This record gives sequence, structure tokens and C-alpha cells, in this order.
Amino acid sequence: MDPASACRIGRTANRAWGVAAIILSVFVTFIVGQTAHTANGKFDDFYEVTWGHDHVSVVDGGSSVQLALDQVNASSFASKSKYLFGYFSTGIKLVPGNSAGTVTAYYFSSETGDVRDELDFEFLGNSTGEPYVLQTNVFANGIGRREQRIYLWFDPTQELHQYSILWNRNQIVFYVDDYPIRFFENKEDEGIAFPTSQPMGIYASIWNGDIWATQGGAVKLNWTYAPFVSEFGNFEIEGCDTVNNVNCASASGWWAGSEYQNMNAADTSKLKWVQQNYMVYDYCYDTTRYPTPPLDCTHKPAP
Ligand SMILES: *[C@@H]1O[C@H](CO)[C@@H](O)[C@H](O)[C@H]1NC(C)=O
Ligand SMILES: *[C@@H]1O[C@H](CO)[C@@H](O)[C@H](O)[C@H]1NC(C)=O
Ligand SMILES: *[C@@H]1O[C@H](CO)[C@@H](O)[C@H](O)[C@H]1NC(C)=O
Repeated sequence: MDPASACRIGRTANRAWGVAAIILSVFVTFIVGQTAHTANGKFDDFYEVTWGHDHVSVVDGGSSVQLALDQVNASSFASKSKYLFGYFSTGIKLVPGNSAGTVTAYYFSSETGDVRDELDFEFLGNSTGEPYVLQTNVFANGIGRREQRIYLWFDPTQELHQYSILWNRNQIVFYVDDYPIRFFENKEDEGIAFPTSQPMGIYASIWNGDIWATQGGAVKLNWTYAPFVSEFGNFEIEGCDTVNNVNCASASGWWAGSEYQNMNAADTSKLKWVQQNYMVYDYCYDTTRYPTPPLDCTHKPAP
């Protein structure tokens, strides 16, 4: 064999290994991705309509649902079960065109009144062509007042985008698609309550919030544009289901794994990008409301 062909074979072999490595890594990503995203449950698998039954349409063979708001009624749905820790994701396509005054909500709540734990995504509509605001909030043991507001980096009315929560004993992370937009660390050791014991249900609704939602309440809802319809799909719930006692053995779920206990470097830089470019309001910097920033605002740096 001449040296050139040996070299060629060597190169081919290297390329073969390269291809094998790529295939392997795609496969691993696929497997890991699958663990993280077994998505696409049907609406009925997880949820039931709770209000405005004739304003709710189940579409796409049960994989999506549309919630409508008009002058007659609003509408909502809720999970059949309650969950304590896990990963929860829903695709949402918001009311297009004129959505001023509407609020589309996707939230988690223990529904325990004064001591409730609650995690909110609230989408505040706007006049045609003006940007939606996504407001998030965290309540722990009844204490909230932790609003943050961002604009989105895409048009949220064109297709479903995923809005997700990762919740374990150490942190709660809010995601928009693959971007963390917020995290709330467990700082119980500093006297700040953190949701660790009350199971939460998952809720979605559309309602008239025009007294406050759009441009501080200045722009009202205009019924000429009704019905206002938001669509929900790509349902994913992976968590400890406390009603059916599934996945509740301690540390049984991937969401409790060590790599999910802290924000990693990649997520931290994505979060910074969101905060630097899209954040409109952060309670942590509202010195009128909080002359001294709340303790939960001072985050430990990422490892
Ligand atoms: C609104 O929806 C609820 C629940 O489906 C229903 O009980 C109520 O009658 C509806 N209201 C109107 C005005 O149709
Ligand atoms: C609506 O549009 C106005 C003008 O662009 C903007 O100031 C506001 O933040 C937008 N969103 C809401 C919910 O008011
Ligand atoms: C509602 O929208 C219609 C159609 O654009 C417009 O003619 C009407 O003036 C609006 N109503 C209000 C109260 O702004």
C-alpha cells in the first residue's frame, strides 16, 4: 500500500469516526431530549374545561384547545391532577390583531388562599401591532409582589411557543422556548419561603383585564374584535402527580437531578440576554416599591 492511499484510508476512517460521533451525539441528544420532552399529550390526558364550556374548542384531534373571550363569557381549563415538582410545558399562540385589554393566563397554584404558592405567566394584550407583555410572578406561602415583565423576541400570535416551568427543591425556572426568562432560588435558609410542600394545579384562562393590563389600563378592550381566541397545545407534564401518586418517590424524576439544581453557564447567559434586551419591569429594581431590594433578588452567582 502506498503512503498516499494509507493516508486516504486513515482520513476515511477518521471521517467515519467523525460521522459515528455525530450520529452518537445526535442519538444521545435525541434520548436526552426525549426524556426532557416526551411532549404532545392530548388535552384530555391532563386537563378539563372549568369555565365557559361553550367558549372552548378542542381542535387538532384533541392535541390543542382554543379558549375564547367575548361579551358573553370568558373561558378556562385546569389540570385534573396536582403536582409537587416537575417539568411542565405548554405551547401557546396568543390572540392575534387587536388584543388590547385581554389577559391570557397560564399559571400554577396550590389554591390555598393566604398561604398559597403560585407561579404565573400572564400575557397582556395590546393594540394591533404593539407588543404583548409577558408578566411573571412567584408566590410562596402567600407572599407574592414579585412581578417581572418582558417583551418577547418573536410575534407570539403566529404559532405556538413553549412556556415552561422547571420546579425542584432547589430552584424554579421559567422558560420561553429554550430561554430561561426568570429563576427563583430556594433561600429558605435565609428565611424566604419556597414552594416545597403544597402540590399545585395548572390553570389556563382568557379574561378581560382592561382595568390594568394594556398600557396601564389606558387602552380598553374593544368588543368589535371579539371573539378573542388564544390557543394552547403541545402539552407536557412530567412531575410528581400527588393525586395519583405517580413519580413521587424522592428524587425519582429527572427534574430533581443534579444538573437541574442550578442554572448552568449557557442558561445564565441566555437569561442575561433576555434581561438586557427584553426586560421592561423588574420588582427587584423598583425602588419606589422596595427602597431596599427584597432578599430574594440577590442571587448567588451561577456555578
Ligand atoms: C359562562 O360559563 C359558565 C361555565 O360554563 C356557565 O355556567 C355560565 O352560564 C356561562 N355564562 C353565560 C352568560 O353564558
Ligand atoms: C403596548 O404597547 C405600548 C406601546 O408600544 C407599550 O408601551 C406597552 O408596553 C405594550 N404592552 C402593554 C401590555 O401595554
Ligand atoms: C372599536 O373598533 C372599531 C373598529 O376598528 C372602531 O370603529 C371603534 O371606534 C372602536 N371602539 C372604541 C371604543 O375604540
